[in-house]
Amino acid sequence: MGLRPSALTFDFIAKCSTTKARAATLHLPHGPVQLPMFMPVATQASLKGLSPKQLEETSCRLCLNNTYHLGLKPGQATLDAIGGAHKLQSWPHNILTDSGGFQMVSLLKLAKVTEEGVRFLSPHDGTPMLLTPEHSISLQNSIGSDIIMQLDDVIATTSPDLTRIREAMHRSVRWLDRCIAAHKKPESQNLFCIIQGGLDLDLRRECCKEMVNRDTPGIAIGGLSGGEAKAEYCKVVNTCTGLLPDHKPRYVMGVGYPEDILVSIALGADMFDCVWPTRTARFGNAITNTGTHNLKNAAYAYDFGPAEEDCECMCCRKPENGGLGITRAYIHHTAAKETAGAHLLSIHNVHYLLDMVRRAREAIVEQRYPEFLHRHFDRLYAGDK
Ligand code: GUN
Ligand code: ZN
Repeated sequence: MGLRPSALTFDFIAKCSTTKARAATLHLPHGPVQLPMFMPVATQASLKGLSPKQLEETSCRLCLNNTYHLGLKPGQATLDAIGGAHKLQSWPHNILTDSGGFQMVSLLKLAKVTEEGVRFLSPHDGTPMLLTPEHSISLQNSIGSDIIMQLDDVIATTSPDLTRIREAMHRSVRWLDRCIAAHKKPESQNLFCIIQGGLDLDLRRECCKEMVNRDTPGIAIGGLSGGEAKAEYCKVVNTCTGLLPDHKPRYVMGVGYPEDILVSIALGADMFDCVWPTRTARFGNAITNTGTHNLKNAAYAYDFGPAEEDCECMCCRKPENGGLGITRAYIHHTAAKETAGAHLLSIHNVHYLLDMVRRAREAIVEQRYPEFLHRHFDRLYAGDK
């Protein structure tokens, strides 16, 4: 057991005897969550177009917020006055916040990283700002999220500059030390470290060793899903999970395609997040067991079935079973306007991923995860029902 205070307990439920998949229950300040788990992204304290009640109905019990967005608007003073992000958005369940640096570097071309922190120009009024590890933690303490992330130095995995990747890995370790020192609420908020090191397995190994020594309540693997080859991605995840302690949650950041989640679970990862299910819904795409289908296609104009047969989400479920009974044709006719249809499809897509990892967990517990993977990929690629 760790020596640092933590605000979680990790209860092992089962381990797959063939793959490295695990099932566990993670007890967090705002209730238990089942691992493996997918976490939808609610950037501005709401999932685009959905109310907290609708998000709750998808079965989500842990969603992501962003420090960078909340820190700019409504800002730290308002967050302190209202008592944090749970109150701000009337969300009684868990929240995880990303530290903000990654979003700044990926969203703002002018962001510049130094040892002090990330310098950038405010997108509101252009004034120069600096996000340090201390400031990110202070903001996350005001947000009151159940899981907070360290500020890290993220380099695109496809970068050829190994010197810069090595520097970013070492800097992320130094920034973790500053985050730990600045963290004022370790009894109620869990700080996760983030493993960096690009696609270089030796750098990843070195980073795992340093981070694990610092004994945070949970561990993230960062710097992935930036367009690297799947084989490289899998090698990094597999190498890292091989070096991490069994009794702590492992979170692969920014991963959300169904196939990537299922393979990463087999490689020993537990937690995932991505904007993709909600973003792709706004383009009219429905995630299903037979792949992602664009309901804007003419073929769906007269298709009166649900987004997915037998789906139990609020959108697909029949009215006689308490659902809305929305058809593909309805989404086809409304999705173009990016309003009702897109929101309904967001509900379906988020529900699909949450239910998919729930089914994966059930299979792990019942020692049939390999069969579960076979069936999932058969349906996806061979069209088998
Ligand atoms: N989101 C996706 N990847 C990353 C990462 O490497 N670091 C952080 N902080 N957030 C991410
Ligand atoms: Zn559905």
